[in-house]
Amino acid sequence: MKNILVTGGLGFIGSETVVCLIEEGYTPIIIDNLYNSKKAVLPRIKEITGVLPKFYENDVTDEDALRKIFKENKIDGVIHFAGYKAVGESVQKPLEYYSNNLISTLKLVKVMKEFGVKNLIFSSSATVYGLPKRVPVTEEDELNEATNPYGETKFMIERILGDISKADPSFNVALLRYFNPIGGHPSGLLGEDPNGIPNNLLPYISQVAIGKLDHLNIFGDDYDTPDGTGVRDYIHVVDLASGHVATLKKLETNPGLVIYNLGTGKGTSVLEMVKAYEKANNVKIPYEIKPRRAGDIAANYANVDKAKRELGWVAKYDIVQACLDAYNFQKKNPDGIK
Ligand code: UFG
Repeated sequence: MKNILVTGGLGFIGSETVVCLIEEGYTPIIIDNLYNSKKAVLPRIKEITGVLPKFYENDVTDEDALRKIFKENKIDGVIHFAGYKAVGESVQKPLEYYSNNLISTLKLVKVMKEFGVKNLIFSSSATVYGLPKRVPVTEEDELNEATNPYGETKFMIERILGDISKADPSFNVALLRYFNPIGGHPSGLLGEDPNGIPNNLLPYISQVAIGKLDHLNIFGDDYDTPDGTGVRDYIHVVDLASGHVATLKKLETNPGLVIYNLGTGKGTSVLEMVKAYEKANNVKIPYEIKPRRAGDIAANYANVDKAKRELGWVAKYDIVQACLDAYNFQKKNPDGIK
């Protein structure tokens, strides 16, 4: 495999994966509608790698645009990041979430099949485990009902792609269940750049660190966890990116359907993360304890044995490195990527 179509390739995880693909000798081709990303990411990818990837400003739900891309390029495999991803917003706009996330994936696979492209990596999420019966979760554990439409779309797309692969075993699909991606490129050129007030913990902390936001609200300190705050598996986005390259190599062995957790295997509480960020960057993060956030769970972290065994992949960076890289990005881009 050489030419890899990357949907959502200018986003937080997509852009980091594009960099990793270039560094590993692949040729990424990006399709992104800039809904949640900026065109200015493209020259930054060039600044890091020396390569300006081919970019199509299109929507993945646009079947004709997809066809044009597959006609103009000999695509060997696809990494499908594009999709709506805000948990809270998905509760307000279920129709938009189901339409966009499902239709884009269906059209993408349809056009892949038309052009005989048989390798697909899908960005799934640890959210498919819902409220896990036990942690760490393994890929064999049962999937539980999601608490929001966003999570449902991930669950449904996993099912759909599983059925497609079952019907045609030569169609290779990897479902990658991401835990909590954080950090940024060590150059400070790429990182998490949310629109408006961040929903996720790390970008929120980073904006408090530079004084853009006043304090962090910690959603609940009465969970059944060692310090009462929520526990998650935070994975450095550079590690997450390399997990995709490892998965492409696996797809070359024609495995059919494969599923991997991409995490570190280690749980970190909100309070531990605040302390780690303060220590790594020598900053103060004031916080207030607030009620639990609807839909949140106490703890979720990954068993990562399968990815290690079958992909030869493990996360290399710890949360300290991720806190350094997140702060570096925030300081260099106080108002996001311009
Ligand atoms: N938290 C706070 N304050 C904030 C933001 C978050 O205390 O301002 C806490 C949350 O309560 C939770 C932890 O920090 O305990 C992590 O919250 P995030 O919003 O950063 O991440 P989630 O684990 O809730 O969700 C993330 C992704 C989802 C994905 C899910 C998979 O945002 O897309 O992981 O488990 F589905």
